Amino acid sequence: MDIRVLHPSDIPHVQQTNITNLPENYFCKYYLYHALSWPQLSYVAVDVSRPKKTPYDAPKIVGYVLAKMEEDPADGIQHGHITSLSVMRTHRRLGLAEKLMRQSQRAMFETYNAVYVSLHVRVSNVAALALYRDTLGFEVKGIEAKYYADGEDAYSMHRDLGYLREEALDDSDDEDTAGQDEGGEVGSAGKAADGANGLKKERKRKVRVGRQLGVGELVERNESTKATQTNGAP
Ligand SMILES: CC(C)(COP(=O)(O)OP(=O)(O)OC[C@H]1O[C@@H](n2cnc3c(N)ncnc32)[C@H](O)[C@@H]1OP(=O)(O)O)[C@@H](O)C(=O)NCCC(=O)NCCS
Repeated sequence: MDIRVLHPSDIPHVQQTNITNLPENYFCKYYLYHALSWPQLSYVAVDVSRPKKTPYDAPKIVGYVLAKMEEDPADGIQHGHITSLSVMRTHRRLGLAEKLMRQSQRAMFETYNAVYVSLHVRVSNVAALALYRDTLGFEVKGIEAKYYADGEDAYSMHRDLGYLREEALDDSDDEDTAGQDEGGEVGSAGKAADGANGLKKERKRKVRVGRQLGVGELVERNESTKATQTNGAP
């Protein structure tokens, strides 16, 4: 199984997976909007166990996560949002959804400095709730009445991404200290030497990469509000 970033050419296959697994479906351009605006955030799980017979064979996509950054966050806090997630029945309970979600969350943090990630889930969706709450550590922030087109309520859930910030700090601490004990002075002499050449004091600082994309007006809120298409509903 290969988990990789979603390419625009995957979109028809992802759309097919979505239609097979969920009642919330989207126009092709909505997938494309995600893939082009936030190319780091959406992933696919591809079954590579059966080799392609011709170079033109389509990839066998068995799961996907479609994700974005909230462009105009109501709370003013930079955060990501899971628009849709599903895994084909044949490939469930293999940990694919968990991996797809973790990859996307990491990319939200590393690329866009997201503080948290949000999503909506049907109150009746036992499997997804277990995945989000028990496996991934999401918390229920509230209930949105009649969120779905068929009138079902949604839980609004959040996952703080502070744990990734701590991991990043731990990593940079490891990098700071790596290799410093080779050939250096030990004991109080070593401490004095470290202080003198600034080894201990200099900390690596995480910098923001990527940028806010000015595509606010392109958000397909028009098509995704109510009516036949559902807005950002995983
Ligand atoms: C929800 C869904 C994405 C989970 O995909 P998956 O790849 O099977 O999930 P994972 O294998 O990563 O499961 C991780 C954990 O989630 C929980 N979980 C997953 N499916 C579950 C189920 N049917 N019942 C209870 N818990 C479940 C378990 O804790 C599981 O860990 P475990 O297998 O070690 O017990 C999948 O069932 C699906 O596509 N459902 C239809 C579409 C959908 O509901 N999407 C979510 C919309 S919000």
